[in-house]
Amino acid sequence: MSTASHDWRRSSKGLCERVVVMGLETAFPQAATSVALIGVQGFGRSYLRILHELENTGQIRFVAGSDLMPEASGELPGHASFHSDHREMLAEREPDVTIVATPPHTHFQIARDAIEAGSDVLLEKPPVVSIGQHLDLMELCRRRGRICQVGFQGLASAAIQRLLEVAAADRLGEITDISVTARWIRLDRYYERSAWAGRRERDGVVVADGVATNPLAHPVMNALRIAQAEDPHAQPVQLDVEAYRCRDIATDDTASIRLHMSNGKHVHVAVTLCAETLADPRVIVRGTTTDAVLADTATSVYVGGIREHVPAERGQPLHNLLSHRRDPARVTLLAPLGQTLAFTAFLEGMMNSGPPHRLAPEFLDERDEEGSRRVILRGIDAVIAEAGRRPALFSEVGTPWAVPPVSVPLATS
Ligand SMILES: NC(=O)c1ccc[n+]([C@@H]2O[C@H](COP(=O)([O-])OP(=O)(O)OC[C@H]3O[C@@H](n4cnc5c(N)ncnc54)[C@H](O)[C@@H]3O)[C@@H](O)[C@H]2O)c1
Repeated sequence: MSTASHDWRRSSKGLCERVVVMGLETAFPQAATSVALIGVQGFGRSYLRILHELENTGQIRFVAGSDLMPEASGELPGHASFHSDHREMLAEREPDVTIVATPPHTHFQIARDAIEAGSDVLLEKPPVVSIGQHLDLMELCRRRGRICQVGFQGLASAAIQRLLEVAAADRLGEITDISVTARWIRLDRYYERSAWAGRRERDGVVVADGVATNPLAHPVMNALRIAQAEDPHAQPVQLDVEAYRCRDIATDDTASIRLHMSNGKHVHVAVTLCAETLADPRVIVRGTTTDAVLADTATSVYVGGIREHVPAERGQPLHNLLSHRRDPARVTLLAPLGQTLAFTAFLEGMMNSGPPHRLAPEFLDERDEEGSRRVILRGIDAVIAEAGRRPALFSEVGTPWAVPPVSVPLATS
């Protein structure tokens, strides 16, 4: 680790901590929440930017970072210590809040370590890779009196909050079903960036990097949250899964899924990373009175085709966690671990549905783009549109390459 010496002094801002690192000196209000980041590179970099802003406005002290890669130390501000061992970091710096932005299969143990060390946690999505882990972590939080918020930005967006208000005010009537559609484009480079990318398992450990369980996890989580609008305890009880892969990866990159919820509602998912043209996720909520759509990466919401007035901003689970810690009576935690149990049940069901079906080359196009290879599933844009409209599975809309679904019963306890 890099070392920092500390002393305390009064300043015009009140009691401050003075941190001296290699001749650099900076001061923070002592009361500010101390935050540490585990997993500095990759998606962790987006947290570095947010932490910089929060620190500049005196809301936090960014005390430490941890990453297996020693070069990650160079990405931290000079006053934050670097540790290649997250347990050492937790013991030495005792952060109030720890952000876990490491690969999914590492989340459970690292989050446990942070909670055991007395820290609240912001855990990136997908939070964990089994129901057993999920329930274990929830129980640990309860026993240790700690909070675990999940990095599902959509849940913390003003748009979904408005949609839930609209549903509660009975403006949609009874919600009958919900469709998730998304057409993303990922180049081979995306799968080459990390050893776990495109894997279902690694060294016997579940990774679950499928299209709907990781890259497009957000709209699935949003749909599950909406499906629970009238009954927060509703859980998925069965999945009908069509999982496809267009590349030589172990997991799916294209999927069509029907989730049966315990409250009788259905969520249909029709998504790909091999699109002809890009379309951001849409969650279409069908009610007996009218429909609503959560669009533009959960930054806008339409009810009966008319846009509701909400701030068009991405949700910020970290900001929500910090605000909740400051004022728990007035600020509701918007993406707590307990509320994401349905997503973990979905993820576990996807793993239990078996490996994806490899699509034959005759259905695929390939081309070079930006120095990498792009694979396109011919006709997928129209198939997703139709599956979302009906709603139905790919095999139910006359898709030439589709195979019958695998049905998987789910248990959430
Ligand atoms: N919320 C979002 O929109 C969003 C977007 C992208 C990724 N993510 C999530 O962020 C997480 C990280 O994804 P990524 O693509 O950045 O992964 P990555 O593999 O590219 O990077 C993760 C970083 O964690 C480090 N790391 C791994 N194990 C570690 C350990 N035990 N201790 C300390 N550091 C460790 C790696 O060295 C690397 O720097 C995943 O859970 C992913 O799903 C979320």
